[in-house]
Amino acid sequence: MPPTRREDLEAQKLADTKYPIEDALRRRCSTLAFSEQPVEVEKLQQLFEAARWAPSSYNEQPWSFVLTTRTESPLDYEKLTNCLIGHNREWAQRAPVLVLSVAKRHFDRGGKVNHYSIHDVGMATQNMAIQATALDLFVHLIAGFDAAQARQAFAIPETHEPVCVFAIGYFGDFETLTPEMQERERQSRKRRAFRDFVFAGEWGRPSELVPD
Ligand SMILES: Cc1cc2nc3c(=O)[nH]c(=O)nc-3n(C[C@H](O)[C@H](O)[C@H](O)COP(=O)(O)O)c2cc1C
Repeated sequence: MPPTRREDLEAQKLADTKYPIEDALRRRCSTLAFSEQPVEVEKLQQLFEAARWAPSSYNEQPWSFVLTTRTESPLDYEKLTNCLIGHNREWAQRAPVLVLSVAKRHFDRGGKVNHYSIHDVGMATQNMAIQATALDLFVHLIAGFDAAQARQAFAIPETHEPVCVFAIGYFGDFETLTPEMQERERQSRKRRAFRDFVFAGEWGRPSELVPD
């Protein structure tokens, strides 16, 4: 019998690690089964505090976030939902919070291109995702959105670039998913072997320090 209970699904989604890692890293996963339960404002504040303390090249902190919630800013929430492409809209619009991340493309100092801006937006976003996991919340990133539409919808200047949308919320309504999405949600999480990405000496030679 495939799992449908929350505890069983969460157990199924736990990272199957060879080496021990922090609990929140192990539990973080991109659920499709969001509950419509609103996220407490205090918890949202904690997530952005976590983002704020991410490292960044030259401490430029090139990240910005457009925060929308179904209850506090329904029009903005709808605008962002409308930017989502394909299946993403189906599952993401159950989540009570949708966020657009944005990168500032040039350094303040000297005006040179900041090649690490998107990387650093990712660092801040991952800080949020891990803090969210510690608060029993889930974050699911969505590259499948129309960046030009998002730029227009929120008047994002040319100096900045929409990077990703992400949904935040509690784990919940598995039964509301389509059969295809239920199937995807039930799958365990897969990762490449260490030998395929930890090298030593020369490119492609697996490091003996981190065996599979
Ligand atoms: C930058 C980025 C973009 C993503 N875009 C999408 C997306 O458009 N739709 C989607 O369903 N999942 C998206 N994901 C989620 C990935 O599919 C997911 O992280 C990956 O399958 C690993 O699963 P896990 O996060 O549960 O470990 C995205 C993840 C990242 C980091």
